[in-house]
Amino acid sequence: MKKKVTVIGAGNVGATAAMLVAEKDLADVVLIDVLEGVPAGKALDLTEAAPIEKHDSGITGVTGDYSEAKDSDIVIITAGIPRKPGMSRDDLLSTNMGIMREVTKDVAAVAPNTILIIVSNPLDAMCHVAYETSGFPKNRVIGMAGVLDSARFRAFIAMELNVSVENTHAFVLGGHGDTMVPLPRYSTVAGIPITELLPPDRIEALADRTRNGGAEIVGLLKTGSAYYAPASAAVEMAEAILKDKKKILPCAAFLEGEYGIDGLFIGVPVKLGESGVEEIIEIDLTAEEKEALGHSADAVRGLVEDLKRLR
Ligand code: NAI
Ligand code: 2OP
Repeated sequence: MKKKVTVIGAGNVGATAAMLVAEKDLADVVLIDVLEGVPAGKALDLTEAAPIEKHDSGITGVTGDYSEAKDSDIVIITAGIPRKPGMSRDDLLSTNMGIMREVTKDVAAVAPNTILIIVSNPLDAMCHVAYETSGFPKNRVIGMAGVLDSARFRAFIAMELNVSVENTHAFVLGGHGDTMVPLPRYSTVAGIPITELLPPDRIEALADRTRNGGAEIVGLLKTGSAYYAPASAAVEMAEAILKDKKKILPCAAFLEGEYGIDGLFIGVPVKLGESGVEEIIEIDLTAEEKEALGHSADAVRGLVEDLKRLR
Protein backbone atom coordinates (compact mmCIF):
# COMPACT_ATOMS: atom_id res chain seq x y z
CA MET A 1 0.00 0.00 0.00
CA LYS A 2 1.19 3.50 -0.76
CA LYS A 3 2.51 5.52 2.19
CA LYS A 4 0.83 8.76 3.23
CA VAL A 5 2.46 11.96 4.48
CA THR A 6 0.34 14.85 5.74
CA VAL A 7 1.86 18.31 5.93
CA ILE A 8 0.17 20.82 8.22
CA GLY A 9 0.75 24.41 7.11
CA ALA A 10 0.78 24.97 3.35
CA GLY A 11 3.16 27.93 3.58
CA ASN A 12 6.73 28.12 2.34
CA VAL A 13 8.21 25.16 4.24
CA GLY A 14 5.04 23.04 4.07
CA ALA A 15 4.41 23.42 0.34
CA THR A 16 8.09 22.83 -0.49
CA ALA A 17 8.14 19.71 1.69
CA ALA A 18 4.98 18.47 -0.06
CA MET A 19 6.68 19.01 -3.42
CA LEU A 20 9.78 17.08 -2.38
CA VAL A 21 7.82 14.15 -0.92
CA ALA A 22 5.86 13.91 -4.17
CA GLU A 23 8.84 14.34 -6.50
CA LYS A 24 10.83 11.70 -4.62
CA ASP A 25 7.79 9.42 -5.00
CA LEU A 26 7.87 8.71 -1.27
CA ALA A 27 4.14 8.87 -0.54
CA ASP A 28 0.79 10.42 -1.31
CA VAL A 29 0.61 13.88 0.24
CA VAL A 30 -2.13 15.80 2.05
CA LEU A 31 -1.65 19.53 2.66
CA ILE A 32 -3.76 21.12 5.41
CA ASP A 33 -3.95 24.81 6.30
CA VAL A 34 -6.41 27.24 7.88
CA LEU A 35 -6.38 29.41 4.78
CA GLU A 36 -9.23 29.01 2.29
CA GLY A 37 -8.16 27.81 -1.14
CA VAL A 38 -4.38 27.94 -0.60
CA PRO A 39 -3.78 24.25 0.22
CA ALA A 40 -6.14 23.15 -2.57
CA GLY A 41 -4.51 25.56 -5.03
CA LYS A 42 -0.96 24.45 -4.18
CA ALA A 43 -1.95 20.78 -4.30
CA LEU A 44 -3.53 21.24 -7.74
CA ASP A 45 -0.48 23.14 -8.99
CA LEU A 46 1.81 20.32 -7.77
CA THR A 47 -0.48 17.72 -9.35
CA GLU A 48 -0.20 19.53 -12.68
CA ALA A 49 3.62 19.40 -12.39
CA ALA A 50 3.54 15.61 -11.85
CA PRO A 51 3.49 14.60 -15.56
CA ILE A 52 6.63 16.68 -16.11
CA GLU A 53 8.34 15.53 -12.91
CA LYS A 54 7.28 11.94 -13.69
CA HIS A 55 5.73 10.79 -10.43
CA ASP A 56 2.35 9.36 -9.49
CA SER A 57 2.04 10.69 -5.95
CA GLY A 58 -1.49 11.85 -5.17
CA ILE A 59 -1.54 15.39 -3.74
CA THR A 60 -4.59 16.75 -1.95
CA GLY A 61 -5.05 20.12 -0.28
CA VAL A 62 -7.78 20.93 2.22
CA THR A 63 -8.77 23.69 4.61
CA GLY A 64 -9.13 22.43 8.16
CA ASP A 65 -10.47 18.98 7.22
CA TYR A 66 -8.36 16.66 9.36
CA SER A 67 -10.25 13.55 8.23
CA GLU A 68 -7.93 13.69 5.20
CA ALA A 69 -4.97 13.02 7.53
CA LYS A 70 -6.44 9.67 8.63
CA ASP A 71 -3.92 6.81 8.62
CA SER A 72 -0.97 9.06 7.76
CA ASP A 73 2.38 7.35 8.24
CA ILE A 74 4.00 10.69 8.98
CA VAL A 75 2.66 14.16 9.77
CA ILE A 76 5.02 17.09 9.26
CA ILE A 77 3.86 20.12 11.27
CA THR A 78 4.94 23.50 9.87
CA ALA A 79 1.91 25.52 11.01
CA GLY A 80 2.69 28.69 12.86
CA ILE A 81 3.45 32.34 12.52
CA PRO A 82 6.85 34.02 12.29
CA ARG A 83 7.82 36.76 14.74
CA LYS A 84 6.46 40.08 13.47
CA PRO A 85 7.67 43.62 14.29
CA GLY A 86 6.44 44.70 17.72
CA MET A 87 5.84 41.12 18.82
CA SER A 88 7.64 39.85 21.90
CA ARG A 89 9.21 36.40 22.18
CA ASP A 90 6.43 35.52 24.64
CA ASP A 91 3.77 36.62 22.11
CA LEU A 92 5.28 34.29 19.51
CA LEU A 93 5.68 31.45 21.98
CA SER A 94 2.12 31.82 23.17
CA THR A 95 0.59 32.08 19.65
CA ASN A 96 2.52 29.14 18.24
CA MET A 97 1.84 27.07 21.39
CA GLY A 98 -1.89 27.58 20.75
CA ILE A 99 -1.55 26.62 17.08
CA MET A 100 0.62 23.58 17.88
CA ARG A 101 -1.85 22.36 20.51
CA GLU A 102 -4.86 22.73 18.21
CA VAL A 103 -3.13 21.05 15.27
CA THR A 104 -1.64 18.18 17.30
CA LYS A 105 -5.00 17.43 18.95
CA ASP A 106 -6.69 17.23 15.54
CA VAL A 107 -3.91 15.05 14.09
CA ALA A 108 -3.84 12.66 17.07
CA ALA A 109 -7.62 12.16 16.80
CA VAL A 110 -7.46 10.88 13.21
CA ALA A 111 -3.95 9.41 13.02
CA PRO A 112 -3.14 8.02 16.49
CA ASN A 113 -0.33 5.81 15.17
CA THR A 114 1.45 8.41 13.08
CA ILE A 115 4.95 9.80 13.57
CA LEU A 116 5.17 13.58 14.08
CA ILE A 117 7.99 15.61 12.57
CA ILE A 118 7.83 19.06 14.15
CA VAL A 119 9.20 22.06 12.22
CA SER A 120 7.41 25.11 13.71
CA ASN A 121 9.45 27.47 15.87
CA PRO A 122 10.62 27.85 18.53
CA LEU A 123 11.43 24.28 17.57
CA ASP A 124 12.49 22.58 20.78
CA ALA A 125 9.64 24.17 22.77
CA MET A 126 7.07 23.22 20.08
CA CYS A 127 8.25 19.58 20.33
CA HIS A 128 7.29 19.68 24.02
CA VAL A 129 3.83 21.01 23.17
CA ALA A 130 3.28 18.31 20.53
CA TYR A 131 4.57 15.57 22.85
CA GLU A 132 2.32 16.60 25.73
CA THR A 133 -0.76 17.23 23.58
CA SER A 134 -0.51 14.06 21.48
CA GLY A 135 0.30 11.70 24.35
CA PHE A 136 2.41 9.81 21.78
CA PRO A 137 5.42 7.82 22.96
CA LYS A 138 8.69 9.74 22.72
CA ASN A 139 9.94 7.80 19.68
CA ARG A 140 7.04 9.22 17.60
CA VAL A 141 7.65 12.94 18.25
CA ILE A 142 10.77 14.27 16.51
CA GLY A 143 11.97 17.80 15.88
CA MET A 144 13.67 19.00 12.71
CA ALA A 145 16.58 21.38 13.27
CA GLY A 146 19.85 19.47 13.50
CA VAL A 147 19.61 18.17 9.93
CA LEU A 148 19.16 21.75 8.70
CA ASP A 149 21.87 23.25 10.91
CA SER A 150 24.29 20.43 9.96
CA ALA A 151 23.49 20.89 6.26
CA ARG A 152 24.32 24.58 6.60
CA PHE A 153 27.63 23.70 8.30
CA ARG A 154 28.35 21.14 5.51
CA ALA A 155 27.59 23.70 2.79
CA PHE A 156 29.95 26.23 4.39
CA ILE A 157 32.72 23.60 4.81
CA ALA A 158 32.36 22.57 1.14
CA MET A 159 32.52 26.22 0.02
CA GLU A 160 35.57 26.90 2.21
CA LEU A 161 37.56 23.86 1.02
CA ASN A 162 36.22 23.82 -2.55
CA VAL A 163 35.09 20.19 -2.30
CA SER A 164 31.87 18.39 -3.10
CA VAL A 165 29.15 18.67 -0.47
CA GLU A 166 28.86 14.91 -0.87
CA ASN A 167 32.29 14.54 0.77
CA THR A 168 31.17 16.45 3.85
CA HIS A 169 29.62 15.24 7.08
CA ALA A 170 28.79 17.44 10.04
CA PHE A 171 27.07 17.28 13.40
CA VAL A 172 25.33 20.22 15.01
CA LEU A 173 23.70 19.36 18.33
CA GLY A 174 21.72 21.28 20.96
CA GLY A 175 18.74 23.60 20.67
CA HIS A 176 17.75 25.35 17.43
CA GLY A 177 19.00 28.80 18.35
CA ASP A 178 22.07 30.86 19.15
CA THR A 179 23.27 28.21 21.60
CA MET A 180 23.41 25.36 19.05
CA VAL A 181 26.61 23.31 19.23
CA PRO A 182 28.49 22.65 15.96
CA LEU A 183 30.97 19.81 16.58
CA PRO A 184 34.09 20.28 14.39
CA ARG A 185 35.72 17.08 15.77
CA TYR A 186 32.85 15.05 14.31
CA SER A 187 32.63 17.08 11.09
CA THR A 188 34.61 15.57 8.26
CA VAL A 189 35.59 15.83 4.60
CA ALA A 190 36.02 12.37 3.05
CA GLY A 191 36.38 11.03 6.59
CA ILE A 192 39.06 13.55 7.64
CA PRO A 193 38.04 15.73 10.61
CA ILE A 194 37.94 19.40 9.61
CA THR A 195 40.17 20.09 12.64
CA GLU A 196 42.97 18.60 10.50
CA LEU A 197 42.06 20.61 7.41
CA LEU A 198 41.31 24.11 8.65
CA PRO A 199 42.83 26.47 11.24
CA PRO A 200 40.76 27.10 14.41
CA ASP A 201 39.81 30.66 13.43
CA ARG A 202 38.32 29.51 10.08
CA ILE A 203 36.43 26.67 11.80
CA GLU A 204 35.02 29.14 14.34
CA ALA A 205 33.97 31.48 11.50
CA LEU A 206 32.08 28.63 9.76
CA ALA A 207 30.51 27.51 13.06
CA ASP A 208 29.44 31.07 13.74
CA ARG A 209 27.89 31.43 10.29
CA THR A 210 26.02 28.17 10.97
CA ARG A 211 24.67 29.51 14.29
CA ASN A 212 23.42 32.59 12.44
CA GLY A 213 22.28 30.64 9.37
CA GLY A 214 18.57 31.30 9.89
CA ALA A 215 19.10 35.02 10.57
CA GLU A 216 21.36 35.37 7.50
CA ILE A 217 18.55 34.16 5.23
CA VAL A 218 15.92 36.32 6.98
CA GLY A 219 18.22 39.33 6.48
CA LEU A 220 18.28 38.64 2.74
CA LEU A 221 14.65 37.61 2.18
CA LYS A 222 13.23 40.32 4.46
CA THR A 223 9.66 38.96 4.23
CA GLY A 224 10.14 35.46 5.64
CA SER A 225 12.61 32.81 6.68
CA ALA A 226 14.43 29.96 4.92
CA TYR A 227 12.34 27.20 3.39
CA TYR A 228 14.22 25.22 0.72
CA ALA A 229 16.83 23.75 3.08
CA PRO A 230 14.33 23.35 5.97
CA ALA A 231 11.93 21.44 3.70
CA SER A 232 14.78 19.24 2.39
CA ALA A 233 15.80 18.51 5.97
CA ALA A 234 12.28 17.51 7.07
CA VAL A 235 11.89 15.28 4.00
CA GLU A 236 15.27 13.59 4.60
CA MET A 237 13.92 12.61 8.03
CA ALA A 238 10.59 11.46 6.55
CA GLU A 239 12.40 9.37 3.92
CA ALA A 240 14.57 7.68 6.58
CA ILE A 241 11.40 6.68 8.46
CA LEU A 242 9.28 5.67 5.44
CA LYS A 243 12.10 3.50 4.06
CA ASP A 244 13.16 2.21 7.50
CA LYS A 245 16.70 3.26 6.66
CA LYS A 246 18.13 3.25 10.23
CA LYS A 247 19.82 6.51 9.30
CA ILE A 248 21.78 8.46 11.92
CA LEU A 249 20.72 12.10 11.84
CA PRO A 250 20.81 14.93 14.38
CA CYS A 251 17.21 15.49 15.49
CA ALA A 252 15.42 16.99 18.48
CA ALA A 253 14.51 13.98 20.63
CA PHE A 254 13.13 13.61 24.15
CA LEU A 255 16.04 12.84 26.46
CA GLU A 256 15.66 10.92 29.69
CA GLY A 257 19.17 11.01 31.13
CA GLU A 258 21.16 10.71 27.90
CA TYR A 259 23.96 13.28 27.79
CA GLY A 260 23.08 14.01 31.44
CA ILE A 261 19.88 15.78 30.29
CA ASP A 262 16.46 14.73 31.59
CA GLY A 263 12.93 15.50 30.43
CA LEU A 264 13.89 17.76 27.54
CA PHE A 265 13.73 17.80 23.72
CA ILE A 266 17.10 18.77 22.32
CA GLY A 267 19.16 17.99 19.22
CA VAL A 268 21.26 14.83 19.46
CA PRO A 269 22.24 12.10 16.99
CA VAL A 270 19.44 9.55 16.65
CA LYS A 271 18.78 6.47 14.54
CA LEU A 272 15.65 7.02 12.39
CA GLY A 273 13.69 4.00 11.14
CA GLU A 274 10.11 2.82 10.76
CA SER A 275 9.41 3.36 14.50
CA GLY A 276 10.70 6.91 14.42
CA VAL A 277 13.54 7.49 16.90
CA GLU A 278 14.85 3.94 17.33
CA GLU A 279 17.96 4.85 19.31
CA ILE A 280 19.63 7.89 20.80
CA ILE A 281 23.30 7.72 19.96
CA GLU A 282 25.57 8.94 22.76
CA ILE A 283 28.88 10.15 21.38
CA ASP A 284 31.86 11.09 23.53
CA LEU A 285 32.08 14.81 24.15
CA THR A 286 34.99 16.80 25.54
CA ALA A 287 34.42 18.82 28.72
CA GLU A 288 34.07 21.95 26.59
CA GLU A 289 31.52 20.35 24.21
CA LYS A 290 29.55 18.99 27.20
CA GLU A 291 29.46 22.44 28.74
CA ALA A 292 28.20 23.96 25.46
CA LEU A 293 25.46 21.31 25.19
CA GLY A 294 24.51 21.93 28.84
CA HIS A 295 24.30 25.67 28.16
CA SER A 296 22.06 25.00 25.14
CA ALA A 297 19.87 22.67 27.24
CA ASP A 298 19.50 25.46 29.82
CA ALA A 299 18.26 27.81 27.09
CA VAL A 300 15.68 25.24 25.91
CA ARG A 301 14.63 24.57 29.51
CA GLY A 302 14.05 28.32 29.91
CA LEU A 303 11.65 28.27 26.93
CA VAL A 304 9.82 25.25 28.32
CA GLU A 305 9.44 27.07 31.66
CA ASP A 306 8.06 30.07 29.74
CA LEU A 307 5.50 27.76 28.11
CA LYS A 308 4.25 26.71 31.54
CA ARG A 309 3.99 30.35 32.63
CA LEU A 310 2.03 31.29 29.49
CA ARG A 311 -0.47 28.43 29.76
P1 NAI B 1 4.65 30.38 6.41
O1 NAI B 1 4.08 31.58 7.07
O2 NAI B 1 5.02 30.45 4.97
O3 NAI B 1 3.62 29.14 6.57
C1 NAI B 1 2.97 28.84 7.78
C2 NAI B 1 1.59 28.34 7.41
O4 NAI B 1 0.97 27.87 8.61
C3 NAI B 1 0.68 29.41 6.81
O5 NAI B 1 0.22 29.00 5.53
C4 NAI B 1 -0.44 29.53 7.82
O6 NAI B 1 -1.69 29.83 7.22
C5 NAI B 1 -0.42 28.13 8.43
N1 NAI B 1 -1.13 28.06 9.70
C6 NAI B 1 -1.20 28.96 10.70
N2 NAI B 1 -2.01 28.52 11.69
C7 NAI B 1 -2.44 27.29 11.30
C8 NAI B 1 -3.28 26.31 11.89
N3 NAI B 1 -3.86 26.51 13.08
N4 NAI B 1 -3.52 25.17 11.21
C9 NAI B 1 -2.95 24.95 9.99
N5 NAI B 1 -2.15 25.84 9.38
C10 NAI B 1 -1.88 26.99 10.04
O7 NAI B 1 5.91 29.95 7.30
P2 NAI B 1 7.07 28.96 6.87
O8 NAI B 1 8.19 29.71 6.30
O9 NAI B 1 6.50 27.82 6.12
O10 NAI B 1 7.55 28.44 8.32
C11 NAI B 1 6.68 27.63 9.08
C12 NAI B 1 7.22 27.44 10.49
O11 NAI B 1 8.42 26.69 10.46
C13 NAI B 1 7.58 28.75 11.22
O12 NAI B 1 7.24 28.63 12.59
C14 NAI B 1 9.08 28.84 11.05
O13 NAI B 1 9.69 29.63 12.04
C15 NAI B 1 9.44 27.37 11.19
N6 NAI B 1 10.72 26.99 10.64
C16 NAI B 1 11.48 26.13 11.38
C17 NAI B 1 12.69 25.67 10.93
C18 NAI B 1 13.46 24.69 11.74
O14 NAI B 1 14.65 24.52 11.50
N7 NAI B 1 12.84 24.00 12.67
C19 NAI B 1 13.24 26.14 9.65
C20 NAI B 1 12.34 27.00 8.90
C21 NAI B 1 11.12 27.41 9.40
C1 2OP C 1 15.89 28.76 10.24
O1 2OP C 1 16.84 28.30 10.90
C2 2OP C 1 13.87 30.13 10.68
O2 2OP C 1 14.46 28.33 12.11
C3 2OP C 1 14.52 28.84 10.83
O3 2OP C 1 16.05 29.16 9.07
